[in-house]
Amino acid sequence: MCGIIGYAGTKQAAPVLLSGLDALEYRGYDSAGAAVFCGGKIKTIRTAGRISELRAKIESEKPEGTVGVAHTRWATHGEPSERNAHPHTGSDGVFTVVHNGIIENYLVLREKLSAAGRVFLSETDTEVISQLLEENYDGDPLAALQRTVAGLEGSFALGILCADFPERIYCACRESPLLAGTGGQCSLIASDTSAITDKADKIYRMQNGETAVLDKDGIAFFSPDGIRIEKREIKVDRNLDEVGKGNFEYFMEKEIYEQPEALKRTISEHISDGRLKAGCPVYGVNLIKKIFIVGCGSAFHAAVVGKYVFESLLKIPTEADLASEFRYREPLIDDSALVVIISQSGETADTLAALREATRRGARTISIVNVEGSSIARESEAVFMTRAGREVAVATTKAYSTQLAALYILALYIARETKAVDDERLGSLTRELSLLPGKVSEALNRSGEVLRAAEKYAGRSYAYYIGRNLDYASALEASLKLKEISYVHSEAYAAGELKHGTISLIEDGTLTVAMCCCGRLAKKTAGNIEEVAARGGSVLCVTTAAIAPLLGGDTKIITVPSSDELFMPSIEIIPMQLFSFFSAKLRKCDIDKPRNLAKSVTVE
Ligand code: F6R
Repeated sequence: MCGIIGYAGTKQAAPVLLSGLDALEYRGYDSAGAAVFCGGKIKTIRTAGRISELRAKIESEKPEGTVGVAHTRWATHGEPSERNAHPHTGSDGVFTVVHNGIIENYLVLREKLSAAGRVFLSETDTEVISQLLEENYDGDPLAALQRTVAGLEGSFALGILCADFPERIYCACRESPLLAGTGGQCSLIASDTSAITDKADKIYRMQNGETAVLDKDGIAFFSPDGIRIEKREIKVDRNLDEVGKGNFEYFMEKEIYEQPEALKRTISEHISDGRLKAGCPVYGVNLIKKIFIVGCGSAFHAAVVGKYVFESLLKIPTEADLASEFRYREPLIDDSALVVIISQSGETADTLAALREATRRGARTISIVNVEGSSIARESEAVFMTRAGREVAVATTKAYSTQLAALYILALYIARETKAVDDERLGSLTRELSLLPGKVSEALNRSGEVLRAAEKYAGRSYAYYIGRNLDYASALEASLKLKEISYVHSEAYAAGELKHGTISLIEDGTLTVAMCCCGRLAKKTAGNIEEVAARGGSVLCVTTAAIAPLLGGDTKIITVPSSDELFMPSIEIIPMQLFSFFSAKLRKCDIDKPRNLAKSVTVE
């Protein structure tokens, strides 16, 4: 979702800005633009399309200059169009702004500014910022910025050019990530480390309300009160910041195949020689009476897996919550509650707000995140890092897998501490968990039969996914994977629920994908498969060799290696990720950048 890059240095700015936008492209966007100081004047170039179109425009217009800002926009206020693309300049032509986030009081501000004679050229909330900066300007851009941010409600990360100071960039943020960095004779800003790790030796994270002024010689940071401050550089794991596609055609494909390694990295930090390391990431677990696991999208599906695993192992009531609901539902929590926050990016607005709500209510918090130093990681009491490495494809695969592993490991730590399971069971689960990367690898090796299934079913325009218990959690994730990248409408249901309404939609050839790896409930799911088949539906079933004989003769079966039932979600999701990937490829979809989606959802 929206990306910012800014450069003030000695090299030509436009190529640096474009390479920064390339690195941000994975976040999802629908228009792009850049502004560069050319001969002391701000030249703005924008497009409603992809970065490649912006590049073509820049190559033809050749903006010569060493200071500039650029942006990828994911539309919130106003359609994706050239006039709504950032940067936006005020009516006086003095301030040019790129912005991530949402200005919640923009309508009030827009009315006031219009009444004062300012003419708006876009439908965006961002334009009020450039206009307000000009209203507040008396020759000191930093003072104008500080006055302006004081009047804004909502979230923002801002990169600003002021026509009177062509060697500088000004910036500020609140509730939206912004980094500033310095390299050899240059300073940079970016909304994401990936855009500047190759250029900046030192990177600093801007905190809420802080402002900064950058030029080629360095950065001056200011506190929310306008006092000059020194900041500590942040640690960035540059090794995991690999962004190439390697031998693969798509990032998603590469990331699907990276799962065994990602799992190994995540698991080996906690389990060695088949034994769980000493300690527990959460202190005082014996006092915990209730657990909430909270996330959005796939992270929520991981939470649903976590609910079943935690309740089964720990015997502590556990709820899986959607962050966007949790934050406003006034959850009944106190210090006897543990809130587990799941987020790949660590920046999802609703998830961050849910964490803050949990903290405000006195709960203990632990986050499962993939980005070190992200907002959620910084604000949680404890952090469990997933080691998926950088995930570029919008649809998550390896981060989801490592989130599941993190939940399993967390459950084992708590189970040991609370003595919820005996040593023998704990030992066998721990050993089984260390075998998981190998089993996932084996499931990946069976891609041929998944491809044949995708070839058979890719033409369908809708599908249903069913499963019980942990298989239901996997059905939710498998269904989301299919719909988000292949644009096939799909819905997931608890298998026993289908007959309470949705079965009326099953007719000749309707595809139902049944997840059936939960041995205890396999016969029940087999019965639901029969109900679909009896109405002419086609059934594709993901199951294990041991369960397969229970299934009806017409069911198309994809078998996966078996493990402890609690860990089967990690294995059964593999063919479903591949199924979605192959289906999207056969349907010629933009797999890594599905329409309307963003990788990091920083607005609520
Ligand atoms: C789906 C997907 C999204 C994310 C969701 C949460 O494939 O990637 O549903 O899981 O937007 O993102 P994070 O984990 O960054 O909080």
